[in-house]
Amino acid sequence: MLVAVAFVMSVTIASAAPIVIKFSHVVAENTPKGQMANKFKQLVDERLSDKVQVEVFPNSQLFGDNKVLEAMILGDVQMAAPSLSKFKKYTKSLQIFDLPFLFKDMAAVEKFQQSPVGQKLLVATQKKGLIGLGYLHNGFKQLSANDVLRVPADAKGKKFRIQSSDVLAAQFEALGAMPLKKPFSEVFTLLQTKAIDGQENSWSNIYSKKFYEVQPHITESNHGVIDYFVITSTEFWMGLPDDIRVEVKKALDEAIVFGNKIAADKAISDRQKIIDSKRCTITKLTDAERQQWVDAMKPVWKQFEKEIGKEYLEAAVSSN
Ligand code: LMR
Repeated sequence: MLVAVAFVMSVTIASAAPIVIKFSHVVAENTPKGQMANKFKQLVDERLSDKVQVEVFPNSQLFGDNKVLEAMILGDVQMAAPSLSKFKKYTKSLQIFDLPFLFKDMAAVEKFQQSPVGQKLLVATQKKGLIGLGYLHNGFKQLSANDVLRVPADAKGKKFRIQSSDVLAAQFEALGAMPLKKPFSEVFTLLQTKAIDGQENSWSNIYSKKFYEVQPHITESNHGVIDYFVITSTEFWMGLPDDIRVEVKKALDEAIVFGNKIAADKAISDRQKIIDSKRCTITKLTDAERQQWVDAMKPVWKQFEKEIGKEYLEAAVSSN
């Protein structure tokens, strides 16, 4: 009988153990993604504390952006929100977000993401074991460098760190520059040691990772977007009890709304903090100068149109 009681107790204890969601990301906590992940944890704690436990690992503490998706498929981490530029191995269609000068503003990005075509992209990685739970904004990218970049010719021959995207590589090659695919965690040191000349990123990433302290010039180019896919493994997600999955998704959706608001605020406030720091000059482009960047970079669309899919490209253009 004692053995039977012990067995029942151990089963009860085992089934009462909360489900753990490890949420890994590469940016600082004071960013749209960092704040979204913390909000998600807070909401789950409030609503499901005895059933689900969220552990957030910022700053590439658990996995860098080159490893996190493999780790997710292996079950070593349950959620992440990598940039849309980091899914090449899992689907070619998400490359659409890397096309230069595609979206005219963040409202157009949001419109495309929420359109039937944008929502279809959420399951584009499903066959490879990953499922998109939603999009999260960060914002438009700016170019930073050791020298002033006013026209495309200024970028010629320079080395730029890029995310692991072939579209972004083609974009810099179109300028006659040298792109280098490197993890986010290495960017500051690469810039500081002058192993590279420049990089492209959102205002919040340039501010929170102090890139502006080691890059004397930023061109306000708004030439592309950094947004995220909040992602989980299909196996983990489908294995959750239905009621828990519904509650977790609800908390996540609310956290994304919260994160998007922070993204919109930080695109303004982090830009201003960088200006106020007086550590670097901000180059604003005239319409004619901007047009030169468009003319130099836009041929990349043609190169990738087939891989991405015409349907997606047309929907994105019409979201403007
Ligand atoms: C980068 O690698 O530059 C960004 O994707 C980092 C991030 O997650 O915002």
